[in-house]
Amino acid sequence: AFSCTARASAPVHNLTVIGSGLMGAGIAQVSAQTGHNVTLVDMTNELLQRAEQRIKGSVERVAKKQFKEDPKAQSDFASQTLSRIKYMVDVEKSVGSDCDLLIEAIIENMKIKQNLFSKLDKVAPSSTIFTSNTSSLSITEMASVTGRADRFGGLHFFNPVAVMKLVEVVRIAGTSDATFDTLTSYVTAVKKTPVCCKDTPGFIVNRLLVPYLAEAMRLLERGDASARDIDTAMKLGAGYPMGPIELADYVGLDVNKFVLDGWHKKFPDNPLFAPSETLNKLVDEGKLGVKTGEGFYKYD
Ligand code: CAA
Ligand code: NAD
Repeated sequence: AFSCTARASAPVHNLTVIGSGLMGAGIAQVSAQTGHNVTLVDMTNELLQRAEQRIKGSVERVAKKQFKEDPKAQSDFASQTLSRIKYMVDVEKSVGSDCDLLIEAIIENMKIKQNLFSKLDKVAPSSTIFTSNTSSLSITEMASVTGRADRFGGLHFFNPVAVMKLVEVVRIAGTSDATFDTLTSYVTAVKKTPVCCKDTPGFIVNRLLVPYLAEAMRLLERGDASARDIDTAMKLGAGYPMGPIELADYVGLDVNKFVLDGWHKKFPDNPLFAPSETLNKLVDEGKLGVKTGEGFYKYD
């Protein structure tokens, strides 16, 4: 086992985040809040405009919290943060000669991620470190389509990025010490706590969290307890901020299903990764949780 200690390393000044969804927008935000210059990329200007609005809303919440009684400091912090983010639809132009770090946060699909990395490997400066924010896929498989396995790793943030304090730094076999040190220092620079682990399915958090959420769904499916009681039990009896059923809705039932199905296919004999009928049914019906207004629960 190895631990996560940041040693002196090349700092990250400029980074490119590909995918401006829930996670990419959050990663861009916390990086800009801490003085980094960010280029945020997505497929259309409409998607980027939506991301910009979400970032603005979240930065204002953070500013209010950080500078409670000082409206001028709040608006300075917000405008400086927002001015550090550039928006771009051209992926290949988004990794300029000064790009220190690339963080991929697009759709959770290996082929699409590999396609992106292989394209970027040809145009990015050789010094740029490549990383993925994947929840469940192998970083090693992504790095294999590039010629920079030594400058490749995982940076796994948590939702909501502005609030959650952890980032998992994932080392593949080829990740160099210099790359690892730069990634760990970047995590510290964005005011998050790094933990590190090998490229194992689900890393640390999801390897424990996904089977726990699935087990809560199975408890519900058997009719052993109601969703509300399962959630209340884990909040008040185990000190979790959200119960497992509401957390599944919060993460997105499609995301839960995708991760569980992927692992079940790879490790069919592991009962922790067995599919859940209720989860499959809700996803079929388009009830994906908070983001669609209904999952296990209904939302206004
Ligand atoms: N932007 C900025 N600030 C935000 C925010 C956002 N998007 N969301 C919440 N906040 C701030 C609020 O302003 C609030 O600040 P104050 O303390 O100053 O009031 C604070 O965070 C708490 O928020 P709320 O009062 O609205 O709600 P809460 O106390 O219930 O906390 C929560 C919300 C932080 C989401 C909490 O319920 C929680 O920690 N839930 C568990 C989340 C979790 O487990 N995430 C991991 C999911 S797994 C994953 O991400 C990995 C994967 O690969 C799928
Ligand atoms: P999302 O659907 O909110 O956002 C993904 C964005 O990527 C979309 O805006 C999409 O238009 C864009 N995109 C897709 N293909 C692209 C391409 N080829 N080029 C540029 N942009 C492209 O998804 P998300 O929840 O932000 O998840 C992103 C990644 O982060 C996934 O790998 C996911 O597993 C991981 N993750 C998700 C969570 C979570 O709680 N949702 C937590 C941690 C990690």
